[in-house]
Amino acid sequence: MSEDKAKLINLTINGKDISAPASLSIFQALWHAGYPRVKGAGCLQGVCGSCRVFVRRADSNEVTTELGCELLIEEGMDVNFLIYPIPPHQTYQLSDIPNSWEVQVKFHDIFPEADQCRHCGGCSTTCPKDIEVERGVALACEGRFQEAGELFVECVMCNLCQTACPELITPNHVAMFSRRVTAYFHTRPSNLINRLGKMHRGELQVVE
Ligand code: SF4
Ligand code: SF4
Ligand code: FES
Repeated sequence: MSEDKAKLINLTINGKDISAPASLSIFQALWHAGYPRVKGAGCLQGVCGSCRVFVRRADSNEVTTELGCELLIEEGMDVNFLIYPIPPHQTYQLSDIPNSWEVQVKFHDIFPEADQCRHCGGCSTTCPKDIEVERGVALACEGRFQEAGELFVECVMCNLCQTACPELITPNHVAMFSRRVTAYFHTRPSNLINRLGKMHRGELQVVE
């Protein structure tokens, strides 16, 4: 074992004092210390967004929001898992939008609070994936859904942005809507259409 890995790091996780080898993530450090935590554990690969943590480092009073499966432990860290019920979110059917001319009106019907954005930047600051969340909401409000959707490609639906929003905007669902309508009202790529056509005609074998 390298000297670095053998070195023990002391930190606090959910109020528990823990010593664990450097190079472990928050989850790995908890498990190493004998705490079989499963709440908030999902993919463990930075994809599902279920492992949100508040973090204060030894040399700072700032509290940041990060993903517990990606974050490596540091000396003197104070970490707390954020577990909260997922609030109900907007429901809609894309098939209820008759054509792309109606998308913007529908957007404002479904997300009336989005126009109340105070531009406080809370959502962008809290995003563990460094997405320009506030800008994404603004783009969607202007009807620029494709640009808005593209900004959120890295979104893991951790919901931290909506937790931070004083206007109860749900930026990640604004983003999801943006991506959905972009795909729904776009002509699909010709190679995809051709391949699907071949599958329907039985000319392309799908190996499972
Ligand atoms: S945009 Fe929101 S839900 Fe998506 S990763 Fe960032 S904070 Fe999480
Ligand atoms: S947290 Fe809410 S109000 Fe603040 S910038 Fe983001 S969407 Fe706007
Ligand atoms: S457990 Fe899935 S993102 Fe961390």
